[in-house]
Amino acid sequence: MTAQDTKLPTGEDLVAEIDRLRKERNAIILGHYYQRPEIQDLADFVGDSLQLSQMAAETDADVIAFCGVKFMADTAKILSPEKIVVLPDMDAGCSLEDSCPPDKFKAFREAHPDHIALTYINCSTEVKALSDVIVTSSSAETILQQIPKDQPIIFGPDRHLGGYLNRKYDRDMLLWPGVCIVHEAFSEQELLKLKAQHPGAPVAAHPECPPHVVDHADYVGSTSGILQFAKTFEGDTLIVATEPHIIHQMEKALPEKNFVGAPGADGNCNCNICPYMALNTLEKLYTCLRDLEPRIEIEEGLRLKAKQSLDKMLEMASGTIGKGDLGRA
Ligand code: 13P
Ligand code: SF4
Repeated sequence: MTAQDTKLPTGEDLVAEIDRLRKERNAIILGHYYQRPEIQDLADFVGDSLQLSQMAAETDADVIAFCGVKFMADTAKILSPEKIVVLPDMDAGCSLEDSCPPDKFKAFREAHPDHIALTYINCSTEVKALSDVIVTSSSAETILQQIPKDQPIIFGPDRHLGGYLNRKYDRDMLLWPGVCIVHEAFSEQELLKLKAQHPGAPVAAHPECPPHVVDHADYVGSTSGILQFAKTFEGDTLIVATEPHIIHQMEKALPEKNFVGAPGADGNCNCNICPYMALNTLEKLYTCLRDLEPRIEIEEGLRLKAKQSLDKMLEMASGTIGKGDLGRA
């Protein structure tokens, strides 16, 4: 902590200072749905991974203050290299990214030379550079359906999302064994107890949840999909099986309805709060806008390689790519 940090503004002054810096820097503040409510309320745009990537690619701001985790800020830099991209806390990682070291992923690819790599965006820039097409949870189904059924595929690093896609689309993708520690923590037993307490309440789950949770869901989809479901479901209570900070958006949009977070193993833990997302705070957002640090930097050769698989995602997510364009050279 610098001497300057010991006298950080607080309360409304802190919010006003962030606003002042945002204008002074011509910055855009992007926030994921899993961010703290006070960050979501201050962001220029709140969205899921795909929407945030699209926003990063399109914005004409000079600075992107990315309130999410590092792979998301890396994606913003890959797509908008001319912009300064800052992340309030550089330690905001992701268990899925950690589960997939690039050297091991490279060896796995080399062991399956006839497979293409369809890779979840929750991975490092190096793994993106080793992949053919990136997907997010909101684009995975659209993209998978454009790949011929006889094309062998490696899917990593989330085995639950990959398994869900395999089951739903009768595919046989080879799965990398990574999991999200947050979604892995939901308990089937506790979910069934909660359903009994709220008879008839639907369950909306993220596909990063294990099958024993997804099997009880009335809706399975990305954070933006879950939010959309929350805005349209009939009834007064919704059980939400994803990181609970998304409930902030639901309560803002539908204050008369009841949104209940699905429980973890002991029924009452905080294990479903993403510890990485939680590292970003208003104070750190203020200092990163003030200092333009910590800043994302990516070596240009690596960036260009990673950009290919991300560009393919952006093209395929809007259904504009030719189907024969997927084989690895
Ligand atoms: P979304 O793409 O659905 O926003 O998910 C991102 C994520 O990290 C889920 O854990
Ligand atoms: Fe990664 Fe899970 Fe946190 Fe999403 S919720 S950023 S997948 S650890």
